[in-house]
Amino acid sequence: KQPELRFVDRVVIVTGAGAGLGRAYALLFASRGASVVVNDLGGSRHGDGSSSKIADAVVNEIRKNGGKAVANYNSVLDGAKIVKTAIDAFGRIDVIVNNAGILRDKSFSKMSEIDWDLVQNVHVKGAFKITQAAWPYFIKQRYGRIIVTASNSGLYGNFGQANYSAAKMGLIGLANTLAIEGQSKNIHTNIIIPTAASRLTEDVLPPEIFEQLKPELIAPVVVWLCHEKCMENGSIIESALGWAGKCHVIRSSGSVLRPDLSSNVTPEDVEERWSAITDMSTAKHFDSIAEVTGEFLVTIDAMKSGNFDPQNSVIAKRSY
Ligand code: NAI
Repeated sequence: KQPELRFVDRVVIVTGAGAGLGRAYALLFASRGASVVVNDLGGSRHGDGSSSKIADAVVNEIRKNGGKAVANYNSVLDGAKIVKTAIDAFGRIDVIVNNAGILRDKSFSKMSEIDWDLVQNVHVKGAFKITQAAWPYFIKQRYGRIIVTASNSGLYGNFGQANYSAAKMGLIGLANTLAIEGQSKNIHTNIIIPTAASRLTEDVLPPEIFEQLKPELIAPVVVWLCHEKCMENGSIIESALGWAGKCHVIRSSGSVLRPDLSSNVTPEDVEERWSAITDMSTAKHFDSIAEVTGEFLVTIDAMKSGNFDPQNSVIAKRSY
């Protein structure tokens, strides 16, 4: 059996921790010894209104169980104030779980700029503001763990969620770069893609699935990702139902579109090679932009040497 994972002297901020997934994360972190800032604005699922009640209820529950927690009622857009709450109450900050979220679902033709901006702001700008406020502490102590919350709606799209899908993919981009900028300082950033029963999903998911999607089954995955022992960085981890897996972006081997470096490419060349360009049978994952540009050299070499048949070769099939 694994020794229990503890968060002794670690301070964790969970945004949107008054309900749903955030609440489950806050309770589990606190039960493992972390001091928790329970942030929640307490508005509606569309982002209207505010109330201190739900954050207070989670703080009370943590304290009743013997844990350490304080409430914060700021919007994530006031990220610096949330970080200040952690510093004032506990003297440090180690973990940020960017979880707060709202929905403003509308089919694309009916989506207003307000629906767009509100969703981008709470998800993407909120994560930017709070994480940037914590970053100098992470750099100084050479330690930090960050979670951003994306969605299958971003990865695959979902009818009526153009604003939300865009925001969730924006968070993946943010996390990809934070993972690179933080790596040498032991600041790790990972992406969680949850599917859980909450007020955001109560009218979307069928009841027999809904009841199996307890947020408490995802919290251990997030807590592990935020532990000092966890070396994962820059990964997309999906979790639901008491299951977890890792997602990767993959790219096809592709096809060279011209016979040599002095030739041009016409739209007809692309049309002719389309099935090879989009053939995913030899697709693979790249770990970095450097790996992708490294492949350009292979392609240039092949074009220089003529070591492929432009009519029929898929260059990467030959190179690997
Ligand atoms: P929820 O609505 O139960 O919890 C979100 C919490 O965030 C609420 O308590 C709300 O008051 C708070 N919040 C909203 N705007 C805020 C702001 N500006 N500042 C501070 N707090 C704010 O929803 P749930 O399902 O627990 O969602 C948590 C996260 O997981 C969200 O980012 C959501 O987009 C994401 N997610 C959830 C999925 C699910 O299946 N439940 C699927 C994919 C992603």
